[in-house]
Amino acid sequence: MHNNTPNPKPLEHLEEWEDFLKERYPEGSTPAVATPVFRATDTDKKEVEFRNYEADARPTVREFYRLNHQFQSYEFGQAKRADFLKLERKAMTVWQAMEFLNTLIDDSDPDTDLSQLQHLLQTAEHIRRDGHPRWFILTGLIHDLGKILCLFGEPQWAVVGDTFPVGCAFSPKIVFPKFFEANPDSQNPRFQTPAGIYKEGCGLDKVNLSWGHDEYLYHVVKGKLPAEGLAMIRYHSCYPIHREGEYDFLLNDEDRRLMEWVLKFNPYDLYTKSHEKPDVEKLRPFYEDLINEFLPGELRW
Ligand SMILES: [Fe+2]
Ligand SMILES: [Fe+2]
Repeated sequence: MHNNTPNPKPLEHLEEWEDFLKERYPEGSTPAVATPVFRATDTDKKEVEFRNYEADARPTVREFYRLNHQFQSYEFGQAKRADFLKLERKAMTVWQAMEFLNTLIDDSDPDTDLSQLQHLLQTAEHIRRDGHPRWFILTGLIHDLGKILCLFGEPQWAVVGDTFPVGCAFSPKIVFPKFFEANPDSQNPRFQTPAGIYKEGCGLDKVNLSWGHDEYLYHVVKGKLPAEGLAMIRYHSCYPIHREGEYDFLLNDEDRRLMEWVLKFNPYDLYTKSHEKPDVEKLRPFYEDLINEFLPGELRW
């Protein structure tokens, strides 16, 4: 496929990561519970095995995680925050940002053939159909706008991928944990204990997660949506916390309450992709109204 965006491989398209998430967390699976697969052995004795998603992963996905785990260090995240969170690259309305993200069209998923804008509208429409509040619908609409980082020349592994805390020991439940051996943080004595540089129970707001589209968008819309919507944006890729139940000792009670909402959002993100293309022009007036209610005018990106 022709690719004219500055978006270095290995993934053929960004959705390859999300397709892999769906394999690991199939629809209807429950959080924080391992999924044993029962297989008949040669002697026909049932034996519990754990599905080896890593062995089954496509080479592109594997290489993507190798790069992500090698380079997403504490220092790397700090440098990206210092650069991108100045928010001085662009001034755009939400709708303009959606159209800008849509220029990543060459990276769209050939399995569903949906553009980035259509994925956002599809997510929002499913939330709307289920009767959720307006801020929740808007959260669905914008949740992936941080992927415009790709259009600023950032590599895939610095935009998407499961996020995880840095500055403390890497959980063995993060997918492909072996790749962390090449991360410089694995040699830093300060980061080797479970809580690392953080105080237990300090709350996720004080914890640095690996850098990507979640954290970036959170800072663009901070203070403009209810805390539940902001948590959905900021933590939706943090599968080690919201699906695996890891790092609980870093959370405070408010984080635990908010994680319930992140989990409520997760199915809309993962399982609502279909071939049914939303009619962008027909939906636009409803969404322009919704945007104007919470996020009017130009935002700084
Ligand atoms: Fe996302
Ligand atoms: Fe998404």
